[in-house]
Amino acid sequence: MIIKDLEELELMKKSADLVGRTLGEVSKALKPGVLAKDLDHIAEEYIRDNGGTPSFKNYNGYPATLCISINDVVVHGIPQTQVIKEGDIVSVDCGAFLNGYCGDYAYTFIIEPVDEKVRKLVKVTLESLYKGIEQAIAGNKTGDIGFAIQLYVERNGFSVVRELVGHGIGKAMHEYPQVPNYGKKGKGHLLEDGMVICIEPMINMGKKDVVFDESDGWTVRTKDHKPAAHFEHMVWINQKKSVILSTYNYIDEKWKVN
Ligand code: MF3
Ligand code: CO
Repeated sequence: MIIKDLEELELMKKSADLVGRTLGEVSKALKPGVLAKDLDHIAEEYIRDNGGTPSFKNYNGYPATLCISINDVVVHGIPQTQVIKEGDIVSVDCGAFLNGYCGDYAYTFIIEPVDEKVRKLVKVTLESLYKGIEQAIAGNKTGDIGFAIQLYVERNGFSVVRELVGHGIGKAMHEYPQVPNYGKKGKGHLLEDGMVICIEPMINMGKKDVVFDESDGWTVRTKDHKPAAHFEHMVWINQKKSVILSTYNYIDEKWKVN
């Protein structure tokens, strides 16, 4: 089940494409003054209009289509009346089922003007994701991915969240194996030809510690309240070079992180 044949792979590309187009729609509406819940409604409507179903909604009781995680919120921010402001960094995580397969990935938007160090945090987080993806080849272990991400992040003076990890994906949003963003070379689970995994570094500007909000049951914040960034891609494992199924190509040009 964790190994996808080429037919399943084609379906997963379509699920990933729907999530990409949804993030594209969100990116068009994103601007200072917009409410997080308005972005959520845009995403839900777009997914349903295109034959999909939001995969986060009702997952363990999660109440929305997107996770919108602003500044010190690392992940799993529930879109409500938060107002997007200049100077924010906003992680938008989106998941959808289409034709029985799940797509799930995230992008962190920089609402300029932001501090130079905040921009660096976002850029290093995105780059660390690609460092991890380079290691996502058959025969390697999940620890090789985590090691590459952690090394790159810590060299740049930031820290890796330990409590939340990436995951396999397919008919279910969360499948074997877990994919930590830290680790040791050669340790962890074997990556096999035909697996599809989500790699999703959650990176803190300050200390690695996070706090789980007990009042809403979801929001994960940095303990020191410094900002955190989050990117996620879906990667198909094969022998030579990993293939990224997810895409940021639909995201409006003005939000390119560089
Ligand atoms: N990308 C996240 C994950 O892989 C999003 C899940 S949010 C949830 O776990 F609400 F659905 F849990
Ligand atoms: Co995920």
